[in-house]
Amino acid sequence: MSEGSRIPGFYKLSLAERRRVVSSRAHVELAELEHALEAGGLDTATADKVVENVLGIYGLPFGVALNVRVNGVDRLVPMVVEEPSVIAAASNAARMIRQGGGFRAEVVESLMIGQVQITDVEHPADAVVRLEAAASRLLALATKAVPNLVARGGGPRAIDVRDLGQRCIVLHVLVDCRDAMGANLVNTIAEALGPITAEIAGGKLGLRILSNLCDRRRVHATCRVHARALVSTPRSAKSADPTSAADDMGELDGLEVVDAIVSASRFAELDPYRAATHNKGIMNGIDAVVLATGNDFRAVEAGAHAYAARSGRYAPLAVWRRDGEDLVGELELPLSLGIVGGTLRVHPTARLALKILNVASADELAMTAASVGLASNLSALRALATEGIQRGHMSLHARSVASAAGALGDEVELIAARIAGEGVITVESAQRALSELRRVPS
Ligand code: MEV
Repeated sequence: MSEGSRIPGFYKLSLAERRRVVSSRAHVELAELEHALEAGGLDTATADKVVENVLGIYGLPFGVALNVRVNGVDRLVPMVVEEPSVIAAASNAARMIRQGGGFRAEVVESLMIGQVQITDVEHPADAVVRLEAAASRLLALATKAVPNLVARGGGPRAIDVRDLGQRCIVLHVLVDCRDAMGANLVNTIAEALGPITAEIAGGKLGLRILSNLCDRRRVHATCRVHARALVSTPRSAKSADPTSAADDMGELDGLEVVDAIVSASRFAELDPYRAATHNKGIMNGIDAVVLATGNDFRAVEAGAHAYAARSGRYAPLAVWRRDGEDLVGELELPLSLGIVGGTLRVHPTARLALKILNVASADELAMTAASVGLASNLSALRALATEGIQRGHMSLHARSVASAAGALGDEVELIAARIAGEGVITVESAQRALSELRRVPS
């Protein structure tokens, strides 16, 4: 994305114009982009080969988050999500964050975990010692199981053994899966190690499967936003642009907004009930990128929430602090994403999403997804801690209500503005507004 992820007025363009702009910015042929987006990219014949008992295809909106800059690189970020305001909110917060230089992100380790469970172990403590002593033999066997991964520079890296009590021990094999999400690779390795592990441990072979708590493949993202950026609204952005910082912070000054966001963060740190919703706001952004790129959102969700509960108490994945006049956000979570294999083999839209993102590795994808998660969190906290979530949310929700009421083309924005202004965002009120609009001769 050499030309940047700032596209002022993008929301005002027609859908066809937006496709043209993204095709040119992302250097993807327009025909390829259109083909990949037509009917969700997947035809029924292909879908029929992907899962079982297929009846058809289920579509979801595919959009792009703007303004995202990660480690100095601008990226247009494809997002697939059904909830109005998620893409606008992420773009809006990313716009504030880029004023402070954008997101800084890094991937910690990048190792997946395969588990081999052994039950009925006679002497667990001795078994642990024997398995640890056999680590290089086990790693050699594991390496043989995944020659293609090894040829790509990945492979098993370490063995770790734990006594779980109740005569049950578990062997972890840590695997560098390079640009793959890695589920199949890790499961292959775990199965290859199973029999010998049971033999050395002197127990009965149990499960052999990856762990979705992939806490050795974590991503860390931070950002710094000056108080001014949280309230300032450039003249040019004072419009209905949902991706601009054009919302009204009333009389609040920037530092008050910083403090209110820090207080919202503390609330999540103190209370698991709030932490769950706080994290849901983060996952709004992350899941949408995970889905757009054909990755396994259930795996990501399982890992994120298990990690949030790692201390024994469910906690927020991102926290916010004040540093002078800046708000500083920090997010860490396990994220196992791939840019090869899996759904990407069959899904042109997922392949398109990766092209638009222009990521060179799974790590770059993970850092971008985490950054969008942090942006989503900031946007939610800023709204919640000031004017409340409903105003912005409902005005965007009004657009889908207007369409549901039968509004077409330009009517959608007109009807949405009307029902949002009246504060009654229902299909009935939209239908009333629509028949009035259509009665008025143009
Ligand atoms: C709604 O999808 C997400 C929020 O509830 C997140 C949050 O409360 O932080 C707004």
